[in-house]
Amino acid sequence: MSIQQWVTPLEGLDSLRQTEAPMPAPGPGEVLVEIHTVSLNYRDVEVTKGEYKHHKTAEQNATIVPCSDMCGVVVQVGSGVTRWTAGDRVLSTFLPEHQTGQVTEKELAGSIGLPLDGVLATHRVFPAHGLVQVPSYMSDEEACTLPIAAVTAWMSINGMRPIGQHGGKDEYILLQGTGGVAIAGLQIAKAAGARDAKGRLRSVALIGYAAIITSSSDAKLDQAKQLGADCTINYRTTPNWESEVMQWTQNHGADIILETGSFDCIAFGGLIDCIGYVSGKVDAEDDRLNVNLLALRRTVTLKGIINGPKDRFEEMIRFYEAHQIRPVVHRVFPFAEAKEAFKFLESGRHFGKVVIKIQP
Ligand SMILES: NC(=O)c1ccc[n+]([C@@H]2O[C@H](COP(=O)([O-])OP(=O)(O)OC[C@H]3O[C@@H](n4cnc5c(N)ncnc54)[C@H](OP(=O)(O)O)[C@@H]3O)[C@@H](O)[C@H]2O)c1
Repeated sequence: MSIQQWVTPLEGLDSLRQTEAPMPAPGPGEVLVEIHTVSLNYRDVEVTKGEYKHHKTAEQNATIVPCSDMCGVVVQVGSGVTRWTAGDRVLSTFLPEHQTGQVTEKELAGSIGLPLDGVLATHRVFPAHGLVQVPSYMSDEEACTLPIAAVTAWMSINGMRPIGQHGGKDEYILLQGTGGVAIAGLQIAKAAGARDAKGRLRSVALIGYAAIITSSSDAKLDQAKQLGADCTINYRTTPNWESEVMQWTQNHGADIILETGSFDCIAFGGLIDCIGYVSGKVDAEDDRLNVNLLALRRTVTLKGIINGPKDRFEEMIRFYEAHQIRPVVHRVFPFAEAKEAFKFLESGRHFGKVVIKIQP
């Protein structure tokens, strides 16, 4: 028996190629999963292009199977596994060894999709403790979007400043771009602040969020409004979008900023979640002093985010279930067109997530 998989020598999207490999068998404590769907992350494009170097923590093979987010079904369990049985629907976790608390270098060295082989395959063996149960109301296409994008958004919003535990007043949240993380963040923020017909908060949260979102596209901003965005700003046609944020928040600024962060529109005491660098990587060596001063000026907290542990993933799933949040899947590509899916994500035309369907 053999499996089908895509592999990359990390030399660009055109170097992705489909190959066959022997069917793996689960060892003690492991589970064999038939993979149904895979969602793409910005990271997968960078990895495949050989540009993902900032978390390099272990030696990796010259050629790897890319991608980390999958939804599948358990087909076989190894000895000692009691948590799963054949037929269970499961999701991967980005860092299978990161079960709780602060991530460590060792846990980071076990990232799926670099340096370890990823999930763009028909089957893969996982450690039993590195999987979580799929929310039953979600399709395979929706569920496979959760492990990286949604967990990162969840930790950004509900990590340092747990939802509902800061001051009992509504807060402004700024989401940059309309990719996977930002749209998951918008959905989480709006669900946390969901109000009933009389304007009372419906959720467990004591506060609501007014969500500001930026994009290069007015059409995408319209889509974001339909998901509940309160303020939308086109960062292409409004290059000084930070001033617009200040104006819209009546000079208060954003209490939480997800993504690259901006000191020009953060509120006093605000939280900047440093997630990524879609607007470009900056390597200036003398930036540290400036960052210190800028953070001090408005008593800002800067928090680097690397995904989140499994127990917070499961906590997030309970929140999704309570609010019946349906992740936004922009487009689903067949397995044979995985290369096109990568190129589509790279083009930035998507709103939310891009998914590859492994099983026909
Ligand atoms: N730290 C972590 O654990 C973690 C986890 C996931 C992702 N990330 C990082 O977070 C970032 C977003 O990831 P993603 O998966 O959501 O990416 P994605 O789905 O590819 O979305 C990226 C979005 O960023 C927006 N964008 C592009 N250029 C921009 C610019 N100059 N200024 C502002 N926005 C811009 C675009 O939105 P519009 O098309 O609307 O303009 C684009 O759709 C990436 O840097 C990724 O590496 C980090």
